Parts: sequence; C-alpha cells; structure tokens
Amino acid sequence: KASSPITVDPFTLVGKELKGLTTNIKMNLGSNLRQLDTLSKYYFEAPGKHLRPTIVLLMAQATANLSPHYNTPKHLINVLVNDPLAPQSILHDTNPSFHNDISQRGQDGVLPTQRRLAEIVEMIHVASLLHDDVVDDADTRRGAPSAPVHFGNKLTIFAGDFLLGRASIMLARLRSLEVAELVGATIANLVQGEVEQLNETYQSSSNDLNTVVDEAFQRYLAKTYLKTASLISHSARAAVCLGGVGVNENWAQGEYLKDAAYDYGRNLGMAFQLVDDLLDYTPSADLGKPGEGADMQLGLATAPALFAWRELGDEMGTMIKRKFKHPGDVQNAKALVAKSNGMPKTAELAASYIDKAKSALHRLPKSDARDGLEALCLKVLDRVK
Ligand code: FPP
Ligand code: MG
Ligand code: MG
Repeated sequence: KASSPITVDPFTLVGKELKGLTTNIKMNLGSNLRQLDTLSKYYFEAPGKHLRPTIVLLMAQATANLSPHYNTPKHLINVLVNDPLAPQSILHDTNPSFHNDISQRGQDGVLPTQRRLAEIVEMIHVASLLHDDVVDDADTRRGAPSAPVHFGNKLTIFAGDFLLGRASIMLARLRSLEVAELVGATIANLVQGEVEQLNETYQSSSNDLNTVVDEAFQRYLAKTYLKTASLISHSARAAVCLGGVGVNENWAQGEYLKDAAYDYGRNLGMAFQLVDDLLDYTPSADLGKPGEGADMQLGLATAPALFAWRELGDEMGTMIKRKFKHPGDVQNAKALVAKSNGMPKTAELAASYIDKAKSALHRLPKSDARDGLEALCLKVLDRVK
C-alpha cells in the first residue's frame, strides 16, 4: 500500500524541550575556576544541530504510554522465566517505581529523566568534540574559532574531561544501572574508535585488490560505529529504558522496543558519519568546521577514497597507504575520487543504512514522534552541513 509522505518536522516536535537544553547544561557546568567555566560552556554558545538530544526526546515520546505487551514477539515471551542468566537488574529493577512514575510525564510523554538524558548525551558529544579538535588540529567548529585555537590544547582537553565528570554526576542521579552501563560503554567506544582510526595502516596478508579494500572497508565501518553510531544507538536505547518499558513482567516487550531503538540509532548513526565523510569531499560545503579534504590532510581514507581505491587500484591505493603524505597527494587523490564513483557510492551506502533505520522504526507503534524519527532519516541524507 502507498505510504503517505512524512511531513512532520522532528525539531518542531521537540522544540519546547530543546529550548531548555542548553540552559540546563550550562547550569550544570558552573565552576569557580573562570577558565573551566568559560571553556566548558564555549561550544554551547553556537547553535549545534542537536541531533542526539532530538533522537532521545523523540524516542521517549515514541515509546510513552504504550499498551502492555505491545507487539511483543512470541519467542521473547517467557524468556525471562526460562533464562537463568537474565540479569537481576532487569528481573528486579533497582527502582521500578522511579521509572514508572507516569505522573511525572510531560504532556508530550517525556519524563524528566529522559530530558536529563538528552542533556547528558549532548555533553558527552561536546566533550568528544573538544578532544577531537585537539587531535585533528581543527581551527574552526560550529562556525567559530575552535576551542584549542581560542584557549590552547591543554585547557581544551581539561574542559572535555570536566564535561565528562559533570555528565557522570547527572548520570548517577538517573538511578539506572542499565542506562549508566550503556552510557559508560559508549564513552569507551568513542575512544576505541579514535585509536583504531589512529592505528590504521591498510596492511593486509592478501595481494588481491578486492580483498585488501574489503578488509579496509570492514575496519572503516567498525571504526565508524565506534566513533559515531555507538553514542546515537546507545542513547536511543537508554531513552527507552528510562521510559519504564520492560520493567518486571513486561521484560520481553522492553527488550523488543529497546532493540528497535538501538537498531534505528545504529543505522542512522552510520549514515550520518558516511554523509559527514562525503561532505568533506564536497567543495561548496559550508560546514562551520574544516572541510575540503580535511580528512585526507589528516591521513584518513574515508568511504569515497576507499571506493575509488577499489575502482582505480594502485594509483589511489599507494597514496592511501602513505596517508597522503607526499606533496600534492591530497590534490591528486581528490581529483581521482572526483573522477571515480566514490562519492555516489558513498551516498548509496548511506541510503542503505537509512533504509535499515526506517525498518527498525516500523517495529515501534505508529505515532507523530515515530514520524519525526523517520523525517530525521531524510534530513540526515540530505544535509549539507
Ligand atoms: C568527530 O569526528 C569526533 C568524534 C565522532 C569522536 C571523537 C572522540 C574522541 C576524540 C575520544 C574522546 C572522547 C570523549 C568522550 C572525551 P571527525 O573528526 O571525523 O569529525 P569532525 O569533522 O566533526 O571533526
Ligand atoms: Mg576526528
Ligand atoms: Mg575532527
């Protein structure tokens, strides 16, 4: 059957919630050390896209006030009673009444804890950007001079750590071990993704071009999950956890919905980073941060370059393996990517992740919020900055 086009604007659906986001975050970043106070708030002065908090808030709305056992697959029902290894924290939730306090839900279905999660997730994201701009030697971010340019590398690293510390306090106050575990795992994943990116040498035990490129592509996608999709997928899952679905007797329903949220976030996150990597090759892009080959200047071969490697062979591969270090490499590689199918193939791959994100969404009940999450898919594919 023909599906009607989605017309809702995801950012409008959570507009009211997002309004308070930056103010609340800043309230949690106060310090009597002037430098820390200013620097930890610095990236919150310019408007960000707020993709991660938007997903958290929409996922909260999309899973609020569900009928009991919504769509719970038969094979999951009773798995709880049959599985001696089911975690005790799920069997006997540490504080179910806290999660289930429906009277706390706002008119839009969002709980105060879920709003707080949106803030925590944005703080972790910004902490990672502070560290990233040191690592990448970036001179701009969000259309302004980057924190390291303004305040130096040392203070920028400390500000990122300070943000993580304050976010941890806020996380503890959610009183959910399940959510703490998800968020903690994500922070470790971010770091692991960055180290894997740093360690990439494009070595292979094979001499076959397709095999060598396939292996590099697998590592690239695994790294992309860690550095970008992990935060989005884990926070989408955590939003559902805090909503109280799946507590005690509804465990199977909860797992079903949490998995759907996770799969949505994972696939959307992969697409988001692929488009980000594509925009680095788009000459006209006004990104508010370094673009136009910035990744290659850092020695990084992202999807467009890897596709060009498979298509053109050694001409491209040699430069990738020496991390574009010889004079003229970045220019030459850019030209090769442009004449290859690397960019359209990257867009196609991003679109295939978006398709998976949409089918994950369709495991949730139909609602305006779900439509908003679907509209977000299109925005991620079409974004120009
Ligand atoms: C942006 O990627 C950066 C990330 C997605 C993650 C960075 C993570 C770290 C530096 C590890 C430390 C983490 C914490 C939580 C302190 P990019 O450089 O490809 O994108 P850009 O173009 O936005 O700079
Ligand atoms: Mg980086
Ligand atoms: Mg960077």
